[in-house]
Amino acid sequence: MKKRSILILLLIILGFISTKQSKYIHALETPINSFSSEFRSVDDNPVTKSSAEITVLVPDDARVKLTIEGKETTQRGSKRVFMTPPLDPKKNYIYKVEALIEPNNYTKITRTREVKFKAGDKIEVDLRKEDKKNDKIVVRWVPTPEDIVDEMSRMAKISEKDVIYDPACGDAVMLIRPILKFKAKKGIGVDIDKKMVIKAKAAVKEAEIENKVIIREGDILNEKDMKDLSEATVVMLYIGDDLGARIEPLLRKLLKPGARIVSHRFLLGDWKPEKTVTVKGADGDNYTLHLWTVK
Ligand SMILES: C[S@@+](CC[C@H](N)C(=O)[O-])C[C@H]1O[C@@H](n2cnc3c(N)ncnc32)[C@H](O)[C@@H]1O
Repeated sequence: MKKRSILILLLIILGFISTKQSKYIHALETPINSFSSEFRSVDDNPVTKSSAEITVLVPDDARVKLTIEGKETTQRGSKRVFMTPPLDPKKNYIYKVEALIEPNNYTKITRTREVKFKAGDKIEVDLRKEDKKNDKIVVRWVPTPEDIVDEMSRMAKISEKDVIYDPACGDAVMLIRPILKFKAKKGIGVDIDKKMVIKAKAAVKEAEIENKVIIREGDILNEKDMKDLSEATVVMLYIGDDLGARIEPLLRKLLKPGARIVSHRFLLGDWKPEKTVTVKGADGDNYTLHLWTVK
């Protein structure tokens, strides 16, 4: 009985290893013209196996790090060609191709595709166009100075009736100033970064307004994380143009008529702001601010 169970266990392990091997494919960074010699040197039976060629197109106006099946690649440029090792012609293969796109020094877009192919195939993966449904976009924390938050609060005419929402709240400055200085009644902040959530909660505690503020971890591109957006009468933003374009439909869908949106520097896709001003900050820099009102 004991021997039988050991045998079954061994068979399961062997089965697992063989499936893993058939699925696991290295992305070789060998250009197509040098492939054939490599192929012959690694395969005893060139007739039965052949490689596949994968061309990946990436945006040419951004820094792009490409990972294939979890392996970071080193090719640069907007067209990158990869060869697989010789593949079994009887099998179907799946690669996960992931591009980390940096259009500027504060935005990181992760664009992923799964591609299916067989030995001998030549396939093209186009990662140039945004994927509105699946792209993950994260911007890094750069705080808005307090005096600029005050300018934004004036622009939105914040008063004691307002509920302020900051969908990428950082250290919660855009909630704390409107509550302390403009008497807003409530603030809701969401941030994708755990560390920022801790920092924001600590700042809210220090300002002694914990009873008026909710801070939580979440991704603003995930509608579930933004479920209470409809409560907001004022939305404060500092999120970059890429995230701005993506959040625009959600703002239009969930905000009630009369709600104001104020953005530090960045726009909301095709939605034209009704007012744009440039103000000089206490630090001597110029800041562009935009205002929209939901109709
Ligand atoms: C430029 S900072 C702005 C912080 C704050 N609103 C301010 O103006 O001082 C952007 C913040 O958004 C957060 N963030 C980036 N991508 C996000 C996403 N997809 N969902 C939620 N928060 C995000 C970052 O962690 C960072 O704290």
